[in-house]
Amino acid sequence: MSKIKLGILGIGNIGTVHINNILDGKCPEVELYAICDLLDEKMEWVKEKLPSVKCFNDAEQMMDSGIDSILVAVPHYDHPKYAIMAMKKGIHTLVEKPAGVYTKQVLEMNKVADESNVVFGLMMNQRTNCIYRKMREIVKSGEMGAIKRTNWIITNWYCPQAYYNSGGWRATWSGEGGGVLLNQCPHNLDLWQWICGMPTKIEAKLHYGKWHDIEVEDDVSAYVEYENGATGIFVTTTGDIPGTNRFEITLEHGKLIADGTTLKMWKTEMSEPEFSRTNTEAFGWPEVVECEVETDGKNEQHAGVLNAFADAILNGGALIADGREGINGLTISNAMHLSSWLGKEIVVADFDHELFYEELMKRVATSRAKTTVNTNVKVNMGDSFK
Ligand SMILES: NC(=O)c1ccc[n+]([C@@H]2O[C@H](COP(=O)([O-])OP(=O)(O)OC[C@H]3O[C@@H](n4cnc5c(N)ncnc54)[C@H](O)[C@@H]3O)[C@@H](O)[C@H]2O)c1
Repeated sequence: MSKIKLGILGIGNIGTVHINNILDGKCPEVELYAICDLLDEKMEWVKEKLPSVKCFNDAEQMMDSGIDSILVAVPHYDHPKYAIMAMKKGIHTLVEKPAGVYTKQVLEMNKVADESNVVFGLMMNQRTNCIYRKMREIVKSGEMGAIKRTNWIITNWYCPQAYYNSGGWRATWSGEGGGVLLNQCPHNLDLWQWICGMPTKIEAKLHYGKWHDIEVEDDVSAYVEYENGATGIFVTTTGDIPGTNRFEITLEHGKLIADGTTLKMWKTEMSEPEFSRTNTEAFGWPEVVECEVETDGKNEQHAGVLNAFADAILNGGALIADGREGINGLTISNAMHLSSWLGKEIVVADFDHELFYEELMKRVATSRAKTTVNTNVKVNMGDSFK
């Protein structure tokens, strides 16, 4: 069986998850050929388990070592830089989420991807979750008519102060470029647009360091509008316990509600607009049937994304998420920040990438970059929100 020769850049929390998936035989078409981290100690355990793996402290040296594919798992600001470097060398590239921190750098990355004849993917592991795949299938099938309203309360991303004290780059404008929107919510924002489409207008209220001693946002309430007049609400925080995961989509023929593990559907025979038009009873209601939706039960997460990446390279198969799609979720995230900073509604089609970059850099300039890192705090691994 031919395999891809993968290099993993950044052997931290998530890099470790990817290596273990390969070592555990979950990725049969992937050979772990090389790894790279600035810190030798991060690679010691791999050398013991896999003496044949090549180890580097310099990303470019690893790229020139014979790998044909790379998984970029360093902190967000550097995702586009190393993806661009790799694609220009003809190396197939899989980038961790988010695609980057600001849209300007991601547009540049997508342009290089268009100019390079390589496979370019994004680690959107939540797209493998059967609940969200089924939800998308039902919405895109049109069987429930047009979307009227979306509403996602995703407040079960609880992080105690210790989490923010754990990684030097975490939760600073200079190190991460944002808070809950950049670290925890890229999955949700991606799924939101993947299932419901991109909003056309966004207005958001963000609170910075409301529940934690941090400078970036840890509490967000956003309102959006869609091309067909539908509206949406998105609420998230890292400060609620126990928090909630409730994703509701109301359509002309009823509604869908996902809570991460189950998907329920309430369906009306007659579409609501038709009922409202033809019904003559003042308090009339169309018949509503409630049902639990069958799914295929699969949820392969990170290994599923890596396997699809290998299949795309070796056999021309479909990626779970094309790398270029990362710009969608990030545009929503950047627009929420910009709306909060400028105190106004943002029109997505006219999103000012340059203005966003300038406003972000103002905050980076005064960012309290952390010097001390409390390394004995174990960070929960893999953003598999419950
Ligand atoms: N898909 C997911 O479920 C998931 C889960 C966690 C993190 N992530 C993403 O993965 C990225 C990394 O997060 P993490 O929690 O693993 O961070 P981390 O700090 O634990 O690991 C990052 C590693 O990269 C290394 N590194 C940094 N710059 C480097 C460079 N220039 N060359 C070589 N090595 C370098 C660091 O030494 C560190 O070991 C983030 O963008 C994060 O959003 C995704």
